[in-house]
Amino acid sequence: MKGILAIDDRPVWTDVTNPVVQPGKVLIRVGAAGVNRADLLQVRGMYPPPPGESEIIGLECAGVVDAVGDGVTRFSPGDRVCALVPGGAIAEYCLADEQTVMTIPGGLSVVEAASIVETWATVWDNVALRAGLAQDQWLLVHGGTSGIGSTAIQAAHLLGAKIVTTGSNDDKCATATAMGSDQTINYNQVLIDDPEHGLATAISRVTGGHGVDVILDHIGASYYDQHIEALRPGGRMVFIGFLSGHKIQTSLVPLLMKRLTLIGSTLRNRNLDERGSLCLILESDVWPAFERGEAKPVIHAVLPVTEIETAHQMLREGSHVGKIVLTIDGTIA
Ligand SMILES: NC(=O)c1ccc[n+]([C@@H]2O[C@H](COP(=O)([O-])OP(=O)(O)OC[C@H]3O[C@@H](n4cnc5c(N)ncnc54)[C@H](OP(=O)(O)O)[C@@H]3O)[C@@H](O)[C@H]2O)c1
Repeated sequence: MKGILAIDDRPVWTDVTNPVVQPGKVLIRVGAAGVNRADLLQVRGMYPPPPGESEIIGLECAGVVDAVGDGVTRFSPGDRVCALVPGGAIAEYCLADEQTVMTIPGGLSVVEAASIVETWATVWDNVALRAGLAQDQWLLVHGGTSGIGSTAIQAAHLLGAKIVTTGSNDDKCATATAMGSDQTINYNQVLIDDPEHGLATAISRVTGGHGVDVILDHIGASYYDQHIEALRPGGRMVFIGFLSGHKIQTSLVPLLMKRLTLIGSTLRNRNLDERGSLCLILESDVWPAFERGEAKPVIHAVLPVTEIETAHQMLREGSHVGKIVLTIDGTIA
């Protein structure tokens, strides 16, 4: 079969070994797979798969079950499924642990299903389960038009909360507002005006002086102090990435005075039990929202898998809104 491998720092659609179905595993004939920023890092050798996992790039896919291993009880050949995997998704066949395979929410196409797995797993796990965002609280997420941002807007509303997102320019802020962001901040503008406090001041202003209860942060070092300033007493900050770096020198005093909680997490290196229980929660608590029309996939582009380099370039350039999806077997709808 074919799959995407990192060769000389480039993603290449090439011949790879066919996965063989094993006990407890589901072999998926892949119709489509989502593209994630982690894929860009892996291609450059910076985010390897956990030991023993597939070297093939890709963390999420959707398609039909081709075969199931001994002991698999929830799925049968022909079922339409999507999966959250630590690697191996962008290939003609993907082998996934049964616990991380989910039924496609009713009404969604395979392409749509491939676009929702990784961002919803990340946002729901960190915002709803770890940080406990509650009704009427405020959430802050940077990049409201990103895969994570567009998901967080919908997740905040499912939880009855309000969300502030940021964007690098007014057009992106307007797009995030159109997608339902309650408030938006042009981060370049506020940081030009006041590099040290501009972001925190803007957050205070747009939340009517309330501040934010939860921050889902993938920026890291450069915003740390302003994030601490913007959090309400009892606030929670979850780190899921460090686009601006991961080393800081700062005072810990506000953590005590404001009773703040700092959380960090990655999905990919979690053990199977944790990833499996998260997938069960997605199926029970989030997928019905897609069926009711309260949540929707946000897809920027759908490209054939042979155009993987274009897809990666789009993500690097950052003008996308939502997710980029690759089609692998276009006959699977
Ligand atoms: N830990 C985990 O388990 C996990 C799982 C999934 C994703 N992630 C991480 O989450 C991040 C977002 O993922 P994604 O798929 O949504 O990626 P994405 O679509 O590429 O989005 C990145 C966003 O970051 C924003 N951004 C960049 N620099 C910024 C800055 N200085 N200030 C404010 N915003 C800035 C960009 O907004 P503008 O274009 O407006 O600048 C862009 O929308 C990535 O770093 C990814 O690695 C972590």
